[in-house]
Amino acid sequence: MSDQAHTEPTAHDPLDTEEASPFPRRTIRTFVMRAGRTTEGQERALKNLGPRFVLPYQTQLLDTDSVFGRTAPVVLEIGFGMGDATAKIAQTLPEVDFIGCEVHEPGVGALLKQIGDHGITNLRIIQHDAVEVLDHMIAPASLAGVHIFFPDPWHKKRHHKRRLIQAPLVAHLASRLAPGGYLHCATDWEPYAQQILEVLSNEASLVNTAPDYAEKPAYRPLTKFENRGIRLGHGVWDLVFRKR
Ligand SMILES: C[S@@+](CC[C@H](N)C(=O)[O-])C[C@H]1O[C@@H](n2cnc3c(N)ncnc32)[C@H](O)[C@@H]1O
Repeated sequence: MSDQAHTEPTAHDPLDTEEASPFPRRTIRTFVMRAGRTTEGQERALKNLGPRFVLPYQTQLLDTDSVFGRTAPVVLEIGFGMGDATAKIAQTLPEVDFIGCEVHEPGVGALLKQIGDHGITNLRIIQHDAVEVLDHMIAPASLAGVHIFFPDPWHKKRHHKRRLIQAPLVAHLASRLAPGGYLHCATDWEPYAQQILEVLSNEASLVNTAPDYAEKPAYRPLTKFENRGIRLGHGVWDLVFRKR
């Protein structure tokens, strides 16, 4: 995914209005609600499969055993976009249960469509801000892993505060990992890769599995953006840290 693949807010988009508002939000969000058309297929998937596979946001801990009807390792993904990698990974690792958080409705519809097309059962979606999901729904030391693939790089310096990977969130994520659980991030924006490496390295409860950047783990498929980026000579950096 090249940085051009991400449309980022410009000077007069809602972000700036929000910042200028006399009623600032409680927290700085890591996303903006992008406009985007939901296709007919996505609409159908939202209507038919949403009730079974989209979990309502709640301010109580999620009981994953009862959600999935079994006891299995649980991996949380933050910001799955259109869900291509998510669907492939869920099929590659049927013994693991996945919870994907995404705020973009067409993406939720697209992933539901894949769930239907491929008969995926080990995946549920929460259409809500993952930061709040983490605050309320995920029990301490409960996760086998966390995936954060190509988080919005927020290129402009004044937007860096919106980047997902920052020390307080990483500490919170680490507290939700079970001992030995992993945090896997990938980005195609080198300055963000450096920031992620620094923030994760500074989190005392995490250990890097590589000297710095990791080999791409086999379960993470190459996205079409990434393939295009590779053809253009752009880099991608994977980081995999483990909870002590
Ligand atoms: C650049 S896209 C990458 C999507 C996907 N992971 C991929 O590799 O194609 C980042 C996604 O993260 C989502 N996102 C950002 N912050 C989020 C949050 N706090 N909670 C849920 N989704 C979030 C955005 O809506 C966006 O779809």
